[in-house]
Amino acid sequence: MKKYTEIIKEIDCCLEDKRNEQFAYITHFLQNSDIYSGCYYKDSALETLENSHIKLPFKWDIPFPQIKDYKFTFIDLFSGIGGFRIALQELGGKCIFSSDIDKQARKVYKNNFGDYPFGDITKINKNIIPPHDILVAGFPCQPFSISGLKKGFEDIRGTLIFDILEIIKLRSPKIILLENVKHLKYHDNGRTLETMVKHLEKLEYKVSVELLNASDFGVPQNRERIMIIGNKSKKFDFSVIEKKPKPILENFLEKNATFEYIKKNEYTLIDDPKIQKSGLIFSGFRKKKIRKSGVRSGTEHLSRVHKQPNRIYSSKGVHPALPSQETSGRFWILHNNKVRKLTVNECYKIMGFPDVFIKSKVITEQYKQIGNSVCVPMMVEVGDKILSLIKEK
Ligand SMILES: C[S@@+](CC[C@H](N)C(=O)[O-])C[C@H]1O[C@@H](n2cnc3c(N)ncnc32)[C@H](O)[C@@H]1O
Repeated sequence: MKKYTEIIKEIDCCLEDKRNEQFAYITHFLQNSDIYSGCYYKDSALETLENSHIKLPFKWDIPFPQIKDYKFTFIDLFSGIGGFRIALQELGGKCIFSSDIDKQARKVYKNNFGDYPFGDITKINKNIIPPHDILVAGFPCQPFSISGLKKGFEDIRGTLIFDILEIIKLRSPKIILLENVKHLKYHDNGRTLETMVKHLEKLEYKVSVELLNASDFGVPQNRERIMIIGNKSKKFDFSVIEKKPKPILENFLEKNATFEYIKKNEYTLIDDPKIQKSGLIFSGFRKKKIRKSGVRSGTEHLSRVHKQPNRIYSSKGVHPALPSQETSGRFWILHNNKVRKLTVNECYKIMGFPDVFIKSKVITEQYKQIGNSVCVPMMVEVGDKILSLIKEK
């Protein structure tokens, strides 16, 4: 019997026009052909499959195959490299639709989960999305152009949240799980978030909002993210979420790897580093320009004086949130009396990604993609607790 990766390589070779979308239909069909959701992809997929010489069945050989006896279905919007997918699959979920606009992220997703995500959500005909139990979306923190509370969907048309709401309206999933950066809470004096919540309430969801930090879920990273959960029958109670003591970075570091150190004369360590409430320990700074305006002389030992990429944090504490934009520069850590950057494997580890995960082949993409992702153990805990809402029904 052929392996799945061999089959989709063959399929990829016979696709010519509309390559990406067709590939998404076929891989979604192969993942769903055993359940109702398969019929949403069947016609388009068979068009290509029937003209090829591909022999089914095949043997799954991907790191995260779907489980047969799934407990619930979900769709993965703005799927990135699949942080949500790892977490929800671990809890017994079956993913029946995925979408992301970024080709590099889609490739990584396909290599790990088997399905090639559909593309730009604004261009997708929403009717191809099958009914599902849970909708998850780690939608991008692009500038939101929502302001004020107006009637209907007009005030949000043109923003990506509109597309999410359109799918919710069409399919009425039992649970909605949205994730975004902390800043969303303050955007437009809180009105943006308020508008989103109002729209979900109009669709008859009870909505709860909470800020969670990855460092409370077993990984040493100070990564605060806003979680928005909508449920039809009752509000999700965030107090049921179980938190753990903050772990320290040094227990997650590699012992044998090629490390990028900086020379002793390129940085200054401060005398008395203190552990901050966040778990960060600001320990020094690279000798680069410091902020001038509003900075008193003699305050060089304060973290806020130094631009983020020049700050050095101790491995005895947690690491700052991995950024997505800063593709080449990482934060600096002080570990065993030396200052270095995190390796890419360490970055994936402090996001809770399993070692079997297949990363992009492009190094800058590896950093960008993990910085964009969700923290897996945090989503496992949240997912586990929201499943109780489904069970109650
Ligand atoms: C914050 S990331 C989400 C990452 C994901 N939750 C993960 O675990 O990797 C946002 C994602 O939205 C995608 N995106 C942006 N605009 C999009 C659009 N119009 N349609 C589909 N995906 C889009 C980006 O490519 C990016 O991967």
